[in-house]
Amino acid sequence: MPATVVLGSQWGDEGKGKLVDRIAEKASWVARFQGGNNAGHTVVLGERVLKFHLLPSGITREDCALVLGDGMVVDPWVLDRELNDWVENGGDEPRGKRIFISSRAHIILPYHTYLDGLDKKIGTTGRGIGPAYADKINRIGLRFAELDEADVEIMATRQNAALAAAGCDQRVSAEELSENLSWIQERFSNCICDTGILLDNALKLGERIVLEGAQGCLLDIDQGTYPYVTSSVTSRGNAGHGAGIHPGHIDTVIGITKAYITRVGNGAMPTELYDADGEHMGSVGHEFGTTTGRPRRCGWFDLVVMRHAQRVNGFTEIALTKLDVLGGLDLLKICVGYELDGKEIHEMPATASALARCKPIYIEMPGFAQLSTAEWLGVASKCNADNIGFKGLPTPAQQYIKTLEGLIGVTISSVGVGPDRDATIDRV
Ligand code: GDP
Ligand code: IMO
Ligand code: MG
Repeated sequence: MPATVVLGSQWGDEGKGKLVDRIAEKASWVARFQGGNNAGHTVVLGERVLKFHLLPSGITREDCALVLGDGMVVDPWVLDRELNDWVENGGDEPRGKRIFISSRAHIILPYHTYLDGLDKKIGTTGRGIGPAYADKINRIGLRFAELDEADVEIMATRQNAALAAAGCDQRVSAEELSENLSWIQERFSNCICDTGILLDNALKLGERIVLEGAQGCLLDIDQGTYPYVTSSVTSRGNAGHGAGIHPGHIDTVIGITKAYITRVGNGAMPTELYDADGEHMGSVGHEFGTTTGRPRRCGWFDLVVMRHAQRVNGFTEIALTKLDVLGGLDLLKICVGYELDGKEIHEMPATASALARCKPIYIEMPGFAQLSTAEWLGVASKCNADNIGFKGLPTPAQQYIKTLEGLIGVTISSVGVGPDRDATIDRV
């Protein structure tokens, strides 16, 4: 059976975790393939709010096996904490049973986090992601496969030189590193393996795999708003590759897309709002970073961003999220192009400076009423139970969905109307 890929189509936090948890019900495997604990994926099960940074969101389904894939950078201390939290809150113990860490994945070490802590330009999550990927590209990174081959003296010398050169006061020692590596081995040796082979075998057995993306297309190192991006390829092209299986296995690519747009960290965002509408999105949508707690910048839906994401990823369907958050706004706006230096453009400019000069060109649509979280959940249950799909939504909300679908040119297969797992309406 082929694989499904779930990707963020904007600047992250589109609601990937919620959708992965939902579709994992019918999957045997959920694998992350890039990024690390810069991700913050939320799953809401009634009163329980679960936030995952490294654990694939399919952990909520006990029959699902979990993979931290080849293309990831993994902070073992964060992973340990996340696993302990999961078990302490009544979850099963996945270690040695259903969680597998790629021997090819790179390890985030304390000095990566110290270096990332110096960032003032990008507004990173400070989790060591960029420095760990830099070591990978420089071919000096440490992978789980080579834990017992590491020369801690050479590593400490090199890491201290990097810290000194960056103006960081912290230092590491060979003894400390040696202890760290022994601890990682002791905690995770029963999980480390060639996960690409596991996934390939699962596909041969006809099992369904979900590849869970982190971040979003506009944070992609090649295709995003460079340099205000993350340090990995977040897009479809890397989904199979970062998981160790070929792209021919992928048949479904779901673009998770917020009904408006948000961004955390620095870099231009042409539709960013500084008014009551933006405040409405931020407060009703609880737009605070899942990883760092920073307020997310909010703005109107941006079709230029979406057109770019569609070109790069070829989504086979779109899951529209957080439509409920727009309830209560009189007028909805969709950015269909930018004005750049007096000219109208419809594609993302390549430079951050040009993007910062872009002014959004909007079309406007009527809004719809605000409902409570419980009322929206009721709307979703009714739409699904009566098998009427989006027809149970207020007419202007249906118009908004239809307009977006027409503009993007991809089917919207589901619409989110609340954080809960069940607050999603499937298309009929
Ligand atoms: P991810 O990083 O893409 O998994 O997204 P995050 O979990 O960081 O952020 C999405 C936030 O929106 C979380 O708090 C979710 O619980 C919430 N959420 C997801 N879908 C919906 C939706 O349709 N409506 C509302 N109101 N909240 C949603
Ligand atoms: P999920 O998976 C939103 C942003 C950071 C910063 C830039 C680089 O939850 O959607 P990094 O720490 O990766 O070097 O930071 O990328 N960023 C995210 N923004 N959602 C995320 O993940 C993000 N992961 C990184 O805020 O602007
Ligand atoms: Mg997130």
